[in-house]
Amino acid sequence: MVKQKIIIANWKMKLDMPASLALAKEYQVKFKSGTEDKEVVVCPSTIVIAEINKILAGGKIWLGAQNVFWEERGAYTGEISVKMLEQAGCRYVIIGHSERRQYLLENYQMIHQKLKEVLSDSRLIPIVCIGETLKEKEAGKRDYVIVDQLQQALGGIQLLSQQQVIIAYEPVWAIGTGQVITPLDAENMHEIIRASLVDLFGIDIINKQFRIIYGGSVDSANVAEFSELDNIDGLLVGGASLKAEEFYQIVVSI
Ligand code: PGA
Repeated sequence: MVKQKIIIANWKMKLDMPASLALAKEYQVKFKSGTEDKEVVVCPSTIVIAEINKILAGGKIWLGAQNVFWEERGAYTGEISVKMLEQAGCRYVIIGHSERRQYLLENYQMIHQKLKEVLSDSRLIPIVCIGETLKEKEAGKRDYVIVDQLQQALGGIQLLSQQQVIIAYEPVWAIGTGQVITPLDAENMHEIIRASLVDLFGIDIINKQFRIIYGGSVDSANVAEFSELDNIDGLLVGGASLKAEEFYQIVVSI
């Protein structure tokens, strides 16, 4: 089954407010045409989401957030709810990015809670991040780690028939390092991910409601290697999404 490819820009905390708004304006102009067959998403810093929603209005780019909290409301200083993200104009939300796992000690129990909250009452589409560290890879534990992360994040989750989930496979050693996975290796990992998702949800749900995307040092120079792989439904792009032209080239090439 051919799924529409999705390409997600993750700006992380790399741009200040004026720079974020300026880049959103460049995106809006750049993505006016040529990418109709793709879904393009931008995930800026939370503080500029509402403003960027105005900039992107009427265009072809969807808005996403980089994080969300697992409770609906309450005394949770500094956190942002699902409802708030929706109200600010988001359609997507990244959950459990490896930088949050590394610096904020976010674990898969938290990721599971966040996913449950997003799916409980919302039109937000979760982008759940998984990926092994270099240490885990070198110890030969990669496949085990990936399957375990998927089970912890998604085990026991119930999906309504129209709900979509995106799984972003991002080897931690490939993020922001310039070290890219070989396309064959990526294809292989995506097969493993798909097989464990089928175990959890059954083939029909996986075919209709899941997309598996790759992230980690993708740029316009190496994107062609991924475009021929048919089990990669899209890309999560960090550094190379900070220039509108570079990101546009990635989107049209995949
Ligand atoms: P990168 O980041 O493209 O800069 O490696 C990817 C990500 O963290 O999502």
